[in-house]
Amino acid sequence: VSSPAPGERPAASPPFDPDAVDLAGLDHAYRRSLRLGRPAGLPVVGYGEISLAFGWPPDAPTVVAKSLPTFPDAGRLRAYVGLLEEYLATLADRGVEPLPTAVRWVGAPGRGRTYALQPWLPAAAIVPAVLARAGRDEGEALLADIVAAVCRAVDPVVGLDGQASNWAVLDGRLRYLDVSTPMLRDSAGRDRLDVDLLVEAVPWLLRRPVARFVAPSILSPYHDRRQVVLDLAGNLLRERLAAWIPVVLQVAEPHVDPPLGAAEVARYYRGNARLWSAVQRLRRADRWWQRTIRRRPYPSLLPEQYAR
Ligand SMILES: Nc1ncnc2c1ncn2[C@@H]1O[C@H](COP(=O)(O)OP(=O)(O)OP(=O)(O)O)[C@@H](O)[C@H]1O
Ligand SMILES: [Mg+2]
Repeated sequence: VSSPAPGERPAASPPFDPDAVDLAGLDHAYRRSLRLGRPAGLPVVGYGEISLAFGWPPDAPTVVAKSLPTFPDAGRLRAYVGLLEEYLATLADRGVEPLPTAVRWVGAPGRGRTYALQPWLPAAAIVPAVLARAGRDEGEALLADIVAAVCRAVDPVVGLDGQASNWAVLDGRLRYLDVSTPMLRDSAGRDRLDVDLLVEAVPWLLRRPVARFVAPSILSPYHDRRQVVLDLAGNLLRERLAAWIPVVLQVAEPHVDPPLGAAEVARYYRGNARLWSAVQRLRRADRWWQRTIRRRPYPSLLPEQYAR
């Protein structure tokens, strides 16, 4: 059984005051990193497909900032903030506790950059780190908690990304942290999220077709419990936590029909890795084009290495 190493306490909820954050300093440092094309002094905690997550202030982080896409106007920004708040409340209603998350922007709303802020969590509290040191019983209980949370939350109206890296254990309780893409649909099955916002991450050449045809189908799997659990299991391969895959399959058994098998997980992961590697290659090519030919900063930072 793994409990925290000697001297290490279970992570407790840190205090969180988004209005105390030096947003101008944070924004300045982020823009500088974009100009330089590397995280100049910023403690990066996650290179997302869409946003960069980094700690602030750099020497002793108290918050994590997640860069959000540029909003074309104040109305679109307000709609996003409203939807995010509704998403947080909906998850909580369904028994999934999200990490406190606040949206803040620099300058006039919708003109400058916008960030989602959260309390900074120690790396040891993020679920892949917990699983890496957990014994069988602790890991199984944690994975059963995650699968149960997914099954409580996910349906055609509410979507969620169940990957291990989107969860943390704080005060012994499971918390969900990847909330900046609020996946809510209306009763007719339409995405309420302004999917045009997601496509900033996509090379410009592909934006229109992606927004029109691909975004709804990229979001669909997150509304299907079986797919979310399949993605959770598949990504354990990426996290070098493959030993936990049979445990996920076992705890998911009562919840998914037809049951998931190891071969399906491996097949899924291979397809998924190909898709995202292709997107990363396109983004690198686009970055080269923007920086070398157009001579302007690329709007996000890409990981140095992209391991899938
Ligand atoms: N509040 C936090 N404290 C510490 N680490 C965090 C925090 N939030 C996120 N992280 C780390 O950063 C990673 C990326 O964050 P998150 O999952 O929110 O975005 P993402 O998956 O990059 O999103 P997207 O792909 O939608 O842009 C997490 O998997 C986690 O390891
Ligand atoms: Mg994530």
